[in-house]
Amino acid sequence: MDWGLKNRISQIIKPYDNRALMLAVDHGYFLGPTEKLENPKKVIAPLLKYCDSLMVTRGIQRTSVPATTDTPMVLRVSGGSSIIGEDLSQEDITVSIQDAIRLNASALAMSIFVGSKYEHQTIVNLGKLVSKAERYGIPVLAVTAVGKELGKDERYLSLACRIAAEQGAHIVKTYYCDNFEKVVQSCPVPIIVAGGKKIPERDALQLTYDSIKGGAVGVDMGRNIWQSEHPVAMIRAVRSIVHGNSNVDQAYDFYKKLVSEGPKKKNKSEKPNQTKSEKPNPPKK
Ligand code: 5RP
Repeated sequence: MDWGLKNRISQIIKPYDNRALMLAVDHGYFLGPTEKLENPKKVIAPLLKYCDSLMVTRGIQRTSVPATTDTPMVLRVSGGSSIIGEDLSQEDITVSIQDAIRLNASALAMSIFVGSKYEHQTIVNLGKLVSKAERYGIPVLAVTAVGKELGKDERYLSLACRIAAEQGAHIVKTYYCDNFEKVVQSCPVPIIVAGGKKIPERDALQLTYDSIKGGAVGVDMGRNIWQSEHPVAMIRAVRSIVHGNSNVDQAYDFYKKLVSEGPKKKNKSEKPNQTKSEKPNPPKK
């Protein structure tokens, strides 16, 4: 692996504990102004310092993320369909490598739709994207999309993740399922778990915990953070599992404590106010 590629991956999957917390805000690329993400700038601002990387489209990165941030960007480069269109799986690559470089992307993200009408197109696009991105040392994160007609079980997700890895994806994003360990075992690259639809906070923390226990390097969570009544408390609780090794009870207690304390007064120069449970483990000797 070239230095640049390794360096970019280490911005996303933190080398001190091999874990990743990605905040997903790319939903508008096919959903439009998703509930509670109508104003991305407002949503992103208080959360940016608590995630390791932000999954975003170029339009939202340019309009709604301060260029002064040191949070790495995972740039979604696929699209072309909408929630009211004919077929969600009809995606193509919509962003050039040159533009991704201008945006200082740490990784490129695209979806594959295994088992769908446009399976061939999306898998070939993944292979081509990996070839192009590797020329510049940029890793590719493949998203194994699931739809109404696509499964979310171990067999389907193992198939989709493995196909993504075989095409050269450096990281795969997929869903949690029963026997998730088997999905991880048959995928030779790191797996990050997507949050999915909004569920109660404790359940989302359980999902985070189970994913990590099952072998995922982390989560890429969107709706379960910014659709929560308390997005900052929620991302900090998720972080305490991903990087602080909290269990579900500890993380949920932490969430409730943060909620009861209410928002802190703004102090622009302040670094993230991490508690012990959010802090990374010391590097292994
Ligand atoms: C949308 C995506 C999202 O980034 C992914 O689903 C994570 O967000 P959420 O936790 O809301 O599911 O890839 O296509």
